[in-house]
Amino acid sequence: MKREQWGSRAGFILAAVGSAIGLGNIWRFPYMAYENGGGAFFIPYLFAMLTAGIPFMIMEFGMGHKYRGAAPRVFARLNSKFEWLGWFQVMLAAIIAVYYVAVIGWAISYFNMSFTQSWGSDTNAYFFSEFLQLGGDNGPSKLGSIQWHIAIPMAIAWAITFAAIFTGVKGGIERASKIMMPLLFLMVIALIARMIMLPGALDGLNYLFEPDFSKIADPKVWSAAYGQIFFTLSVGFSIMLAYSSYLPEKSDITNNAFMTVLINCGFSIIAGILIFAILGNMAHEQAKPLTEVVSSGVGLAFVTIPSAINLLPAPYILGPVFFFALVIAGLSSHISIIEAVTSAFIDKLNLSRKVAASLVCGIGFVVSMSFATNGGLLLLDLVDYFMNNIALLASCLIELLIMGWIIKLSDIHKHVNNISEFTIGNWFEICLKFISPLFLLVILGTNIYTTIT
Ligand code: PFF
Ligand code: NA
Repeated sequence: MKREQWGSRAGFILAAVGSAIGLGNIWRFPYMAYENGGGAFFIPYLFAMLTAGIPFMIMEFGMGHKYRGAAPRVFARLNSKFEWLGWFQVMLAAIIAVYYVAVIGWAISYFNMSFTQSWGSDTNAYFFSEFLQLGGDNGPSKLGSIQWHIAIPMAIAWAITFAAIFTGVKGGIERASKIMMPLLFLMVIALIARMIMLPGALDGLNYLFEPDFSKIADPKVWSAAYGQIFFTLSVGFSIMLAYSSYLPEKSDITNNAFMTVLINCGFSIIAGILIFAILGNMAHEQAKPLTEVVSSGVGLAFVTIPSAINLLPAPYILGPVFFFALVIAGLSSHISIIEAVTSAFIDKLNLSRKVAASLVCGIGFVVSMSFATNGGLLLLDLVDYFMNNIALLASCLIELLIMGWIIKLSDIHKHVNNISEFTIGNWFEICLKFISPLFLLVILGTNIYTTIT
């Protein structure tokens, strides 16, 4: 059977961007920039983007396009000894998929609540005690039992992902991306346009962008930038390999990679502007210093933002728009990660897409229900920490070492140059053989060291 294909170049780029732009851009990047030098953070971040992000993306697009498969098949075709790396990446993808969907479920619930701000005025107590039912009287006795108010929105998220994957690359994933991505951009721009006029918003932006150049000398800042770039671009965990395996014969790999990376990183900056405009306004309204309201991750999205929304004019409009954007950003990433897993099984077992999609989503759904119990957050924090700080970096490092030092990276380089409009020079191989592995080695070493001590 002929391999499925994207319907258009724009469709592919929107799907790749949909994968790259996710919760990480919204709740991780802004805080990271703020904490690591503000405006000055853009120096290490751009450096990481140029020396790791872009070359890695070109390489993965080239690999998927040349070897026509999800990760296990790509590595097997490079050398049958390395199929395991593909399966390792698929396993990481599967693990991430089942907890990421829990957060999407929470976001769907919060979207629903945002029309009336039914989370109340103490959003911290609400989120932890009422919503997640942690601690207090609802404590460990209930551990293990499913919380339906979380399970149902998670099921909705699974249903949307399943529909896209089941329908196929062009009719499902591409079509969904073409709706979701423009909508996401529009909503975020509209939010910024409104937020920026509110008192305090500009002070928030000053906090975000004010450069602290002394931070540039701190190695931690560089490792933060490097660590973020791999995660944010969805490289090293089988996603971009699967997506690029559906590219038509004639495809401008280099150009596609540049577009995907630049749009993702540009979106991060836009998201930073939105988040800090919201935080700046909140600090102003509560007459607190901004340093007391900044946060990231789950706390930002489900505690800080809801209480910032409480203070906004027309919260019943701005709130739903914000959470809808969060849901879309998450869903398009979830679709990509499930496709990476599904297509690996289609390749390997010759299953039809419909059967593979049903199996993967069915099993994924059941496993993900462990995050709808009140052990959910604890489990999620643990898995998320391990994935981001160790497993994904290790996977990227192994991939680079194999590609750069064992297999001829120059083959991919040539392949990409043959079909792309502008040719890329030796910097491509220098970045992937030396600079990126070196950074990854240092970051990974530090992370392992700090985890075990
Ligand atoms: N690129 C995504 C982000 O920055 O949020 C990372 C990601 C996470 C992709 C989870 C896919 C996914 F399922
Ligand atoms: Na991203």
